[in-house]
Amino acid sequence: MKKILIARGVFPEVAEALSRRFEVEHNAEDRPLAPDELARRLADKHGVMTTVMDRVDDALMARCPELKVVSNIAVGYNNVDVAAATKRGIRVTNTPGVLNDTTADLTWALLMAAARRVAEGDAHVRAGEWKVAFGVQAFLGVDVHHATLGIMGMGRIGRAVVRRASGFDMRILYNDPTRLAEGDERAMGVTFVERERLLAEADFVLVMVPYSQQTHHLIGAAELAKMKPTAILVNSARGGIVDDAALVEALRTGRIAGAGLDVFEGEPNVHPGYLGLRNVVLTPHIGSASRATRIAMCNTAVANLTAVLEGREPPNPVN
Ligand code: DGY
Repeated sequence: MKKILIARGVFPEVAEALSRRFEVEHNAEDRPLAPDELARRLADKHGVMTTVMDRVDDALMARCPELKVVSNIAVGYNNVDVAAATKRGIRVTNTPGVLNDTTADLTWALLMAAARRVAEGDAHVRAGEWKVAFGVQAFLGVDVHHATLGIMGMGRIGRAVVRRASGFDMRILYNDPTRLAEGDERAMGVTFVERERLLAEADFVLVMVPYSQQTHHLIGAAELAKMKPTAILVNSARGGIVDDAALVEALRTGRIAGAGLDVFEGEPNVHPGYLGLRNVVLTPHIGSASRATRIAMCNTAVANLTAVLEGREPPNPVN
């Protein structure tokens, strides 16, 4: 029987389903495994189910001679050295599609929360600071409806965000290395613009690109300087695409008005500068975190892993 490791805690029914086909070692206590422990536990395994927090690099794969498949329970796979895996004949798979709407929902929640100061208002009420029942000028936010939305990265999740924005009568700009077909742009009501124009005109800038060397610090001090002082930045894609130190400074000095962030450089550590700022809404990498979607992601990862170990083409190959 082939041996697999589920590197983090998954739903019991997912581990059970895999146990019917494979000899399963499950990190059910969900303790993140340090690289050396991960390598030791993987040394005799044929397959592994990983999360974005499990780094699978060449050094680790060198210690896993039996490994045939890395099945990431995520659409992103920047935790895996795909080129090294390919050289070693190890398949890498991901879970696209099933999390689009859930991640778009969270993106929208961050946008709304930052625009209307929801988290700040909540903290104010809980702290017993709400002393005057109603103030004409209290807790003023910015309107989302009829504003200009700028989407950087028009992939599946970007398109799901467009569907939400259309109910808010927004003007929607986008930038992507691959421009949509004219008919699609018209049908979706989106306009392609260069990045500079998007940054300059958008009231809300959404980061929706995958993380790579090319997108590392795609938003830094220079890009933040091009945004409107009233603009809000939302990142639900990956930490490292936004330069956290530069964003802290922009938020602190009022260079931009606010931000909504689900992802950070060096998670679970968060730049300490964010913590004292009222104009940023912070969530702990929960973009795809609904029960239904996380189950669907696990089931997709199971299908990918099973296919490779049974000698079939996986539904969602990365390499
Ligand atoms: C993804 O699927 O890439 C999400 O960020 C969860 O890891």
